[in-house]
Amino acid sequence: MAFPKNSFKLLFVLICSLSLNAWAKVDMTMEESVEVYLGDSAGIPCQYVFSEQPRAFMIQWFVRNPSSSSRERIYYGDNAQQIVDDGTDFTGRITVSNIGDKEGVLLTIQDVQLTDEREFFCQVNGMAAGNGEGKTHLRVFDPPMAPVIEGVHAGISVTNELPSRIASCEARNGFPRPNITWYRGISPLTPTHGQINVVILVTRESSGFYTVQSELQYKVAKEDKDVLFSCEVSYYVPGAVRTAESKGINITVHYPTTVVELWKESPQGLVKEGDTVEIRCQGDGNPPPPFTFNRQQEQETALEASDDTLVLREVTRGDSGVYQCRSLDLDTYEEVMGDVQLIVHYLDPALVVPKDSEIMFKGESLTATCNALSSLETFTVWFKNGLQVGTGHMLFLQDATYDTAGEYVCEVTVPSLPGLHTSGSVHIIVQGAPQMKDADREVEMEEGAGKWMNLSCEAHAHPLPTISWTVTGSQSWREVLTSATDHSTISLVSIKVTSDITAFCNATNEMGTEAKSFSISAIPMDTSTAPYSPAEGNGVIIVVVIICVLLLAVLGSVLYFLHKKGKIPCGRSGKQEITKENPNKDGIVVEMKTDTKTEEAVLLKGGNGDKNGPNDQYMDLRK
Ligand SMILES: *[C@@H]1O[C@H](CO)[C@@H](O)[C@H](O)[C@H]1NC(C)=O
Ligand SMILES: *[C@@H]1O[C@H](CO)[C@@H](O)[C@H](O)[C@H]1NC(C)=O
Ligand SMILES: *[C@@H]1O[C@H](CO)[C@@H](O)[C@H](O)[C@H]1NC(C)=O
Ligand SMILES: *[C@@H]1O[C@H](CO)[C@@H](O)[C@H](O)[C@H]1NC(C)=O
Repeated sequence: MAFPKNSFKLLFVLICSLSLNAWAKVDMTMEESVEVYLGDSAGIPCQYVFSEQPRAFMIQWFVRNPSSSSRERIYYGDNAQQIVDDGTDFTGRITVSNIGDKEGVLLTIQDVQLTDEREFFCQVNGMAAGNGEGKTHLRVFDPPMAPVIEGVHAGISVTNELPSRIASCEARNGFPRPNITWYRGISPLTPTHGQINVVILVTRESSGFYTVQSELQYKVAKEDKDVLFSCEVSYYVPGAVRTAESKGINITVHYPTTVVELWKESPQGLVKEGDTVEIRCQGDGNPPPPFTFNRQQEQETALEASDDTLVLREVTRGDSGVYQCRSLDLDTYEEVMGDVQLIVHYLDPALVVPKDSEIMFKGESLTATCNALSSLETFTVWFKNGLQVGTGHMLFLQDATYDTAGEYVCEVTVPSLPGLHTSGSVHIIVQGAPQMKDADREVEMEEGAGKWMNLSCEAHAHPLPTISWTVTGSQSWREVLTSATDHSTISLVSIKVTSDITAFCNATNEMGTEAKSFSISAIPMDTSTAPYSPAEGNGVIIVVVIICVLLLAVLGSVLYFLHKKGKIPCGRSGKQEITKENPNKDGIVVEMKTDTKTEEAVLLKGGNGDKNGPNDQYMDLRK
């Protein structure tokens, strides 16, 4: 029978091959995974070492199909040929090359796709020299787009019992699937029961990419109003993990009002009557609750206010008091209240005593007071004719004279509140007998006869005095001016000086009389102008000429005598000068030179001074 023989033969081959296999073998070396960015080229090395050089050699590459777990050949090569299989995902994209001088090949895949993330098998067959297989997982990476964060715009109340949705974050088109982590400030948030929930939605796009959406549910506290929330996406890249952060967003936190504060916003400093006062109210809640204002003593009457500000126009002292601001929290129905005290300062009009005007007798004393009621300390200054005459609310007028009379103004200021000031005044009248100016000095004057001269009298008194004149020695006089001021009368008379004159001016009122006297000596005038009779004047001249001739004769004989004795050389002519004083400054001096034969008058312009020289040869005709 052939069967057993054949069976033996088969067994022998089997044993032979087993023994051969056990002796001849191949060592395969492949990386567990190769990582590559989408679109790049991937190189998968396959190394093999035969213990015995094979006579025939064959290499094949397979990929595992993602759907079924079956394998598909993509490449075949042997000593004679290299073939890339047709009709696979890799047709046209792969090449197989030798790795340097080592025994091994490199499968290169161009333009790596997401679907290329598979297991690649490298199968080596050396027939009698043995066969082997190894595999490498190709991993493909593509970073997602930057994360986009979106906060919830509505306010979130701290009174919410459960965590509220406060923000969402999206990381689009990443591969493999990225993760999203939430941050509060710089601290990562981890889900905590009843405090923090994170709801994740992962979408696999038709393109194969992953899009991850994450929603943060969070139980807000008041402190969260100033905190920035952000999300961070983390994703794998070849050989590393990378992260990208979103921008920070803040959330609107609503919390109840627990304290309200009330304060005076304007004016700064002390408040005076007439000011416009602004009182502002602020609570610590968000959103700011509506406020109502009222005065402490009128709890039920709400004052009209705009939002958080109460405006009081032209306040008076009656507006002083405690103001309150109330807020009712609509979540908790709790009322909170704040208050502020307002003091309106005032200064009443000044009250001066004595009022309006007051009559004092000469020598009397009086105390005037000036009072202005104020809520603050005041300062009083008294003025008369613009000059300060006293400080303090009392003014002492002692031993009144006519100079005491006048208008006294008191000005009241409040040093701590310069806007407050008032003033008052009193008119002081001093009554008494007339008081003549320069009455004690008896006036003596001289005046050329025939001249007019003016005399004046001024008298102080209240009631106003009348001035009357008594003139003796002149028939021609008249009052040329009278004028009266508040407290004095002036009178001017023009008198023609004909002879020595005595004049009195008497100032009189109900209280008495005071007089002033003038005495005027008349000076006789010179020949040229004097109203004397011409005969008398010629006589004088004749006498003078005769005396001169006599004197000359005596002088001549004396000179002759002296000449004989040889004592003196020459003589001098007599000279006489007539000067006349004029009351006016620019007086005219008439100098008369008398020579033996000629008389010539020389007009000299001179001053007011006496022209009398020391020369005794001058003759003064004035007296
Ligand atoms: C994403 O989260 C998963 C689960 O926590 C973790 O295993 C994975 O390593 C994370 N991926 C990245 C890129 O951080
Ligand atoms: C935070 O919120 C306030 C007002 O609610 C806003 O003015 C500010 O710009 C916000 N800051 C940021 C970084 O969003
Ligand atoms: C006297 O007073 C009158 C009036 O004021 C004036 O016109 C006149 O010139 C005065 N005469 C003298 C001599 O001062
Ligand atoms: C003026 O006063 C003098 C002296 O006091 C007195 O003698 C005279 O009579 C008085 N004249 C008038 C008009 O009052």
